[in-house]
Amino acid sequence: MAEEYLFNRIPKEVEKVETKNRRICTKLPVPESLPILERSIKYEPWSMNHQLLAVWDRAVDYQIFDKWGNIWIDFSSGIFVTNSGHGNSGMVESIREMIDKPMLNSYYYPSEIRSLLAEQLVRMAPPDMDKVFFLTTGSETTECALKLCRMHGIKQRKDKLGMISFGGAFHGKTMGAQTMAGKPQAQAWIGNLDPCIYHIDCPTDAFEDMSQIYDEEKGQQLFERDIKILESQGVDLDTIAGAIFEPYQGWAALFYPIGYIKALRAFLTRKNALLVSDEVQAGFGRTGKLFGYEYYGVDVDIICCGKAVSGALPLSAVLSRKEIIDVDGSLNSTHGGSPIPCASALANLKYMEKHHLVEEAKRKETIIRDKFMQMKELFPDRICAVHGMGMAFAAVVVKPKTRELDVELVDRIIERAYEKGLMSIRTMTGTIKIGPPLTIPDDALIEGMDILIEAMKEIVREVKC
Ligand SMILES: Cc1ncc(COP(=O)(O)O)c(C=O)c1O
Repeated sequence: MAEEYLFNRIPKEVEKVETKNRRICTKLPVPESLPILERSIKYEPWSMNHQLLAVWDRAVDYQIFDKWGNIWIDFSSGIFVTNSGHGNSGMVESIREMIDKPMLNSYYYPSEIRSLLAEQLVRMAPPDMDKVFFLTTGSETTECALKLCRMHGIKQRKDKLGMISFGGAFHGKTMGAQTMAGKPQAQAWIGNLDPCIYHIDCPTDAFEDMSQIYDEEKGQQLFERDIKILESQGVDLDTIAGAIFEPYQGWAALFYPIGYIKALRAFLTRKNALLVSDEVQAGFGRTGKLFGYEYYGVDVDIICCGKAVSGALPLSAVLSRKEIIDVDGSLNSTHGGSPIPCASALANLKYMEKHHLVEEAKRKETIIRDKFMQMKELFPDRICAVHGMGMAFAAVVVKPKTRELDVELVDRIIERAYEKGLMSIRTMTGTIKIGPPLTIPDDALIEGMDILIEAMKEIVREVKC
């Protein structure tokens, strides 16, 4: 594997920037921030130091502030959490009310706020989903979904344990979640991989544009091909208990062929097996739909929610039908549905509805797509494809005339963009990926996209010299 590119840690002069939306007024990284960065390196895992070297002090709506006067436009949403904007005032107020009571913890004794949030989520969910189970992280929800699929399966026959998932997918970092995730290099530590979790190669070609997902007949044929391959590997298809997919694969905002997911749904229905949509990243308006699976025109049986469900604090949720959720009589957790995250989530969801953020994300899709297309035209030998819907987008960046992802080039581009006042996401996979708060004003969105283009122009030029 190529060596990791290290962001510059020695404060350097950068051009001063001052616009309505951003300000860069110090050397970067900020000299005074070095002790903080060093403390983090000393006491935390190295992997906690992968992101851009801005020390966040305050975050409001679409802007990140440090202590030294710098302001960045945020294209990360704190990794797809703050869809309703950082520090949303309604959320802050609800959190404060809970603190002032005080009501900081309630285990799973009944609480009014948890019951109200459950009611709100069920009201927003598809009509047949009438139960929700609260957890803390996204990984826990996919673990829970795996368990529910299997418990539902073994009620039918004791070996109905098979779970289908996809190459390239990400479902979290705990053992079941990482086993389902399709990233073999991240599974080496597990040793004995679960023999009933079957990975199918991702049917979308990340290096080709997303028009491929709309050919429904081809999508269906691809599914039929893949299920035959699975069978030829000795898998008894009647033992399949479920399948899990993300509406888009996070690393490249990669959607699946629509016909493929339709065929998967039909297959699972025939087998009395369950379809899980992992909406931890795609949910709550990010794609321009409340849930990303809606793009596929199918029903799902379980929805995993995380990140933007609370909009800030650690809360996740599994949505499903009574007969599926209640199949497990042991669903509770120490911090699941904790009062402050519940207060944050309830205020967040109400804000999303009141301000039509789902529609807002769909409207802004055009701005983002046009800018990425402009970028692709400028760098035809570097950007081979652009994927995304709503406000989750990625450009796939390669070394010229190859299908080799150029991870370092992307790292340099986002580092340059940070020096200009844009906070973007380091995917470490060779994609320029963005996910701004859905509330970002159009002018800041356009400004941020232009920074990316400018940064790419400069870095590509420098690499050529
Ligand atoms: C699609 C998806 N599923 C699951 C997870 C895991 O969530 P968490 O990091 O909260 O455990 C993530 C996190 O990025 C994700 O994007």
